[in-house]
Amino acid sequence: MSTKTHGKYAGVIKKKIDNSDIEGKKVIRDWCLEQMGGAANCTVLELYGGQGKIYDACYANPPVKKHMAFEIKKGVGADRPTWVHGDNKVLLPKYVQGWDLYDLDAYTEPWQLALVIAHLRKPGRFALALTCGVYRPMHGGALVGYLRQASGYNGLPQNGLLCRFYEDVIQACFNDWGRFGVTVEEAKRVHSISTFNVKYYGVIVNKAENHG
Ligand SMILES: C[S@@+](CC[C@H](N)C(=O)[O-])C[C@H]1O[C@@H](n2cnc3c(N)ncnc32)[C@H](O)[C@@H]1O
Repeated sequence: MSTKTHGKYAGVIKKKIDNSDIEGKKVIRDWCLEQMGGAANCTVLELYGGQGKIYDACYANPPVKKHMAFEIKKGVGADRPTWVHGDNKVLLPKYVQGWDLYDLDAYTEPWQLALVIAHLRKPGRFALALTCGVYRPMHGGALVGYLRQASGYNGLPQNGLLCRFYEDVIQACFNDWGRFGVTVEEAKRVHSISTFNVKYYGVIVNKAENHG
């Protein structure tokens, strides 16, 4: 929880919503697990472990074969045996191999880390569950550097019209994985029912053998 100290919304309390729509997120994760052979056969790495609400709802019952979660905030999830404390960007290269499902329940933007997974992961079939909140910043005229570069919209002005290109930007992110031989086999999208234009994606991909 934080309070804005200046500008139009000074004094307004802002709360980051960790699990705005657990049902929608679960639909995506259940689908990914099913596509990858069922929970009992799946190993899952959560890059944004949080307090473990996704774990409890999606990976504990029935239990997945193996699980690990990263969490940057000290103490959050600390009582959970499969939690590793630290920054996902730093931990990912060490732990990236061997998972069937990569869970990126990011606050806004999972795409840069998804690209790192596409780059580092050994060849084979795997799944990604992604929480994407970039429509809202785009609506406000902002788009982070990677998304501008991946989508080729570098030259566009920072204005609210950017959100018209949301679908293209996301498609460009999927296509960008092709740099590392990763192609999409199947994908599913669910719209959040409670948060403005947040979307959840489940993606089954294959990384070609010659991209080790
Ligand atoms: C949207 S919440 C995820 C909620 C979580 N999936 C759950 O089930 O409770 C995002 C979480 O990621 C954590 N986080 C944000 N940036 C991170 C980073 N760079 N590395 C690891 N964790 C991070 C936040 O502290 C927060 O707990």
